[in-house]
Amino acid sequence: FSAVDVIRAKRDGGQLDDEQIDWVIAAYTAGEVAEEQMAALAMAVLLRGMTPSETARWTKAMVESGKTLDFGSVGRPTADKHSTGGVGDKITLPLTPLVAACGAAVPQLSGRGLGHTGGTLDKLESIPGWRAELSDTEIARNLRGPGAVVCAATEDLAPADRKLYALRDVTATVESIPLIAASIMSKKLAEGTESLVLDVKCGSGAFMKDLDQARELARALVDIGAANGLRTSSLITDMSAPLGRAVGNALEVDEAVEVLSGGGPPDVVELTVRLAREMLAHAGIGDVDPADALADGRAHDKWREMIRAQGGDPAAELPRAQHVEVVSAPESGTLTGLDAYRVGIAAWRLGAGRARREDAVQHAAGVRCLVKPGERVTAGSPLLELHTDSPDTIPAARESLEGASEISGADRTSTPLILDRIA
Ligand code: URA
Repeated sequence: FSAVDVIRAKRDGGQLDDEQIDWVIAAYTAGEVAEEQMAALAMAVLLRGMTPSETARWTKAMVESGKTLDFGSVGRPTADKHSTGGVGDKITLPLTPLVAACGAAVPQLSGRGLGHTGGTLDKLESIPGWRAELSDTEIARNLRGPGAVVCAATEDLAPADRKLYALRDVTATVESIPLIAASIMSKKLAEGTESLVLDVKCGSGAFMKDLDQARELARALVDIGAANGLRTSSLITDMSAPLGRAVGNALEVDEAVEVLSGGGPPDVVELTVRLAREMLAHAGIGDVDPADALADGRAHDKWREMIRAQGGDPAAELPRAQHVEVVSAPESGTLTGLDAYRVGIAAWRLGAGRARREDAVQHAAGVRCLVKPGERVTAGSPLLELHTDSPDTIPAARESLEGASEISGADRTSTPLILDRIA
């Protein structure tokens, strides 16, 4: 094989065959296909697309570039969830112990935040003592014990994706649906879960800004799962406004614990329960109602067990920001919109996120949305709270929030949280 032939074939709109795909991914991982060649191929894929069968094969080749985990011995069906990322999306925190409390084992290999979207590991690391890095033996032990693990993916899972994602990031080739779908699914297939529910976010705070694009990505993800023998379904959910009221690491942990205690914002509860139902149905225990496990405290008990199993103290005080400032409502009326992207950027500027992979995050930083879309405000009353340990970030955060709120004299027509389901 020659990299130039593979690039040329895709450049000219051709379909790559299995052998070409297997070769190019393996050779790229081994350093035999150069970065500039892979960059050209990624751009050709972005411009020309890939068929579902090419995408499925591309994914399989990326899975086979590294090792795969196998949780066949945990004695319970395994189910996982992946979100394409949003603002205030802390759903993994209540969902993982909830589904485990209902009888499935949840291996949730997660990431850190980059840019305006938060990362699950950054959130949990605000709990004193909690450890994201686990060995394969610890993951298997915790799946057999609490049945719930949220931890970092190790370097040896889908290394082709790791390399390719970094390349796409600097060559304007992230925004290709087949490449995004293959990237997400390669990590999930390597992780060895038996079933997967995808939460494809749609709206200003998400990768996919409109419903057609979100449907296309959801379809690509579900097709890859099916082609690789993984029970997969996908919900498309709204990310035009932040999920819940809390955006930022410790603030989101607090909100997740509220949900586990039977309270919390209705949108977070609704999505948690809905995703739990999907996961339990895939795991063959669809007759168990997750709403009961949330109401009677079993999910909260499981949360404590899961946090302790990774060295954390579930009773410890979470970090609090040294500096809190209020953003007031500019006028009176109904809050008809709160732009997720702008709120995400504000939280990021306050210190909740990182600009470079190696940066540290501030655990206490973020934004609390005191008013949610649909609720009424009066001019000058508190709308948002800015939390940070670095007061010098406040002006930039305020600037990114300009125009984030939409206030109207008319009532807001309520928009559904769950926009579609693709299976
Ligand atoms: N998330 C991923 O894991 N990969 C992508 O390509 C985009 C988002």
